[in-house]
Amino acid sequence: MRRKTPLIFSSEAFTMKHGAGRKNNNLSVFVVVFSVFLFGCFMYNEDVKSMAEFPFSRPKSDQEIQDDHQPSHSNEEIRNKNSNLDENDVDFPIVKNSRTIVEKEVETGSSEGEDDNAQQSIMKEQEEQKIELPVDEEDDNNNNNDNDRDDDDDEEIQFPPEDCDLFTGQWVLDNTTHPLYKEPECEFLTAQVTCLVNGRRDSLYQNWRWQPRDCSLPKFKARLLLEKLRNKRLMFVGDSLNRNQWESMVCLAQSVVPPGRKSLTKTGSLSVFRIENYNATVEFYWAPFLVESNSDDPNMHSILNRIIMPESIKKHGKNWKNVDYLIFNTYIWWMNTFSMKVLRGSFDEGSTEYDEIERPVAYGRVLKTWSKWVNKNINPIRTQVFFMSMSPLHIKSLDWNNPDGIKCAKETTPILNTSMSLSVGTDRRLFVIAANVTRSMKIPVYFLNITTLSEYRKDAHTSVHTIRQGKMLTPEQQADPATYADCIHWCLPGLPDTWNEFLYTKIISRP
Ligand SMILES: *[C@@H]1O[C@H](CO)[C@@H](O)[C@H](O)[C@H]1NC(C)=O
Ligand SMILES: *[C@@H]1O[C@H](CO)[C@@H](O)[C@H](O)[C@H]1NC(C)=O
Ligand SMILES: *[C@@H]1O[C@H](CO)[C@@H](O)[C@H](O)[C@H]1NC(C)=O
Ligand SMILES: *[C@@H]1O[C@H](CO)[C@@H](O)[C@H](O)[C@H]1NC(C)=O
Ligand SMILES: *[C@@H]1O[C@H](CO)[C@@H](O)[C@H](O)[C@H]1NC(C)=O
Repeated sequence: MRRKTPLIFSSEAFTMKHGAGRKNNNLSVFVVVFSVFLFGCFMYNEDVKSMAEFPFSRPKSDQEIQDDHQPSHSNEEIRNKNSNLDENDVDFPIVKNSRTIVEKEVETGSSEGEDDNAQQSIMKEQEEQKIELPVDEEDDNNNNNDNDRDDDDDEEIQFPPEDCDLFTGQWVLDNTTHPLYKEPECEFLTAQVTCLVNGRRDSLYQNWRWQPRDCSLPKFKARLLLEKLRNKRLMFVGDSLNRNQWESMVCLAQSVVPPGRKSLTKTGSLSVFRIENYNATVEFYWAPFLVESNSDDPNMHSILNRIIMPESIKKHGKNWKNVDYLIFNTYIWWMNTFSMKVLRGSFDEGSTEYDEIERPVAYGRVLKTWSKWVNKNINPIRTQVFFMSMSPLHIKSLDWNNPDGIKCAKETTPILNTSMSLSVGTDRRLFVIAANVTRSMKIPVYFLNITTLSEYRKDAHTSVHTIRQGKMLTPEQQADPATYADCIHWCLPGLPDTWNEFLYTKIISRP
């Protein structure tokens, strides 16, 4: 499957591509072609799930029209073969699908990119102004910041037992301990995530605490975290979901730092939040595929035709050395297309030819490259390494049996019945690869298994209370969640704070 130009996916093109060059028109060839075709259809359907999320996706009415079509025979087969497909998805006629994906792919590429551009330009503004509040002469230890009310007590911290599975449990309403900070108390939050300021009326999504089944998470104490971070660097590496989590971590850490002792700067792919009194940093490095790709420019990654170099990681990796806590992720950028474009040669040499490889195969190659880098470059005495599992999307409300829903837009409570089997379209094949790779490495890597517990949080996305291309959604856009709701990213305070509670638990548990 060697290509030079973007693939316009159609059922015909797909069949021809694989049929071409095979002169033996016997049954087995037909079976291969047909099953590849089925695979393509399946992957397309899965893509719709992630893509319907983005701005510009087809209006609801259009979707409904499509949904009225009877499933064809081949769709039935897909359904049987792929239990993680929900019924709603397979009701699309294939021909229509083939046409739609071209539009979707293009639109999706630009919208995610543009959103990120917007985000980046905001951060650039912040950089230019360099957030510096008036220096508070008070010592960090006796400042009378309201925010340290939780840190005054000297009660013993209870660490969960080493072997307790933190990720199996349930969400419980706990408005005395959660949220861990308030939206207006963290000036570093960007407009992408401040849902209340952006007009969200319900705030219950901030009040849920994750309760592991067999133990409890330790109480969050910002000072304890900062003591662990003293003279150290903590860095998130990955895509906009990891940036979402980084913003959360900045807010968690900054709550006990007086004004003037903290600053945020951005240079190229790296954003650094510095806490002066502790000589500590909480950083974010943009690398949506971890390996080298044509989407690596932090400001100009609005790339429709995403191409990666699965074996090339050094250029990014040199920025990850001498960091004490490294938190990696990569997922959402894989979900636009059913196959991944892999460069032949290198960008530096001006190569433009690429192969198209099945998503899980390419993902496996990337994680292998990443694990080799970690094994070779990380000193486990100094550095703790983490890998975040997939952050799920919520774009089909029938996934959680809400026929009146519009993507995630009307959801105000988590899914609380954990015995209900739930599939929101997460590519579990990638999950399995990540879980396996991280488990079998020479250097210990802590796999933060947040996928399932986040799948319950259909209520926690930014939805229409966010920005698009740097601007707040207009009231008209907010009134059209089928088109504009962002059901990928999360409000803050919110779910990513819980992800950081796991991280915190692991960080403070180490002697
Ligand atoms: C991840 O956590 C879920 C529960 O949230 C559990 O069912 C699953 O087995 C875990 N997977 C791994 C690989 O730890
Ligand atoms: C907290 O929740 C309880 C019931 O769950 C409710 O009565 C109370 O008003 C809530 N408090 C706040 C501050 O929201
Ligand atoms: C401050 O932190 C940096 C980065 O972790 C470290 O290299 C340096 O030694 C620290 N400075 C002092 C004075 O401890
Ligand atoms: C939870 O889901 C299961 C399986 O769908 C169902 O049998 C059960 O009645 C549900 N429980 C509640 C409390 O709704
Ligand atoms: C898990 O990883 C090991 C070592 O990398 C590999 O040999 C094995 O095939 C993998 N298993 C699965 C199910 O991916």
